[in-house]
Amino acid sequence: MSAGPPPARLVVLISGTGTNLQAILEACASGELNARVAAVISNRAEAYGLERARAAGVPAFCLPKPAGQSRREYDAGLAAQVGTFRPDWVVLAGWMRLLTSAFLDCFPSRVVNLHPALPGAFPGTNAIERAWQAYQRGEIGQTGVMVHLVPDEGVDSGPVLATATIAIQPDDDLAALEARVHAVEHELLVETLRRLTGQPSASIEI
Ligand code: GRF
Repeated sequence: MSAGPPPARLVVLISGTGTNLQAILEACASGELNARVAAVISNRAEAYGLERARAAGVPAFCLPKPAGQSRREYDAGLAAQVGTFRPDWVVLAGWMRLLTSAFLDCFPSRVVNLHPALPGAFPGTNAIERAWQAYQRGEIGQTGVMVHLVPDEGVDSGPVLATATIAIQPDDDLAALEARVHAVEHELLVETLRRLTGQPSASIEI
């Protein structure tokens, strides 16, 4: 029996709670994902995701942007750090900084972002809240989640790898919608990484 391909190496960039990172770590541990997280880097020291990574035995550190440093200088330094872990994929899982080409050009077609809305919808921060408000105004009936490649400095745009739509219900409050979106994010991100790392689809049609 063949041993199969070696696990893909992931470097995950985070800024916060890290529930999507947790989904990735668990999928790696269970074998659902033929990958391992080589490192987790946060731009914020207080990001709880750093604790999640350390609890899983994954190297995790903070790289804050010094006030006097340009975005491109910071991104070049970040790329150098990420590069030492030789990632097959760089996963932006709640990474709240826009990356310049000083970073992106080091990992062409290798940077994957998660956005809690459908392609072209609500780019930037607070996407779930803005979708909920748009629903209240009768402008939309559904929202969703997308996973996409990050080729350039566009905000939450780039070649779409996967989407999932989520209906908004009349009795949804913002917290209920957020919980549903996050649950779908965890599933869609892992499923997309399964596909990228050469494993067949498990559950979601993407
Ligand atoms: C997610 O909703 C992600 O799409 C957005 O930030 C959130 C991060 O959540 N960009 P977590 O840190 O993975 O819990």
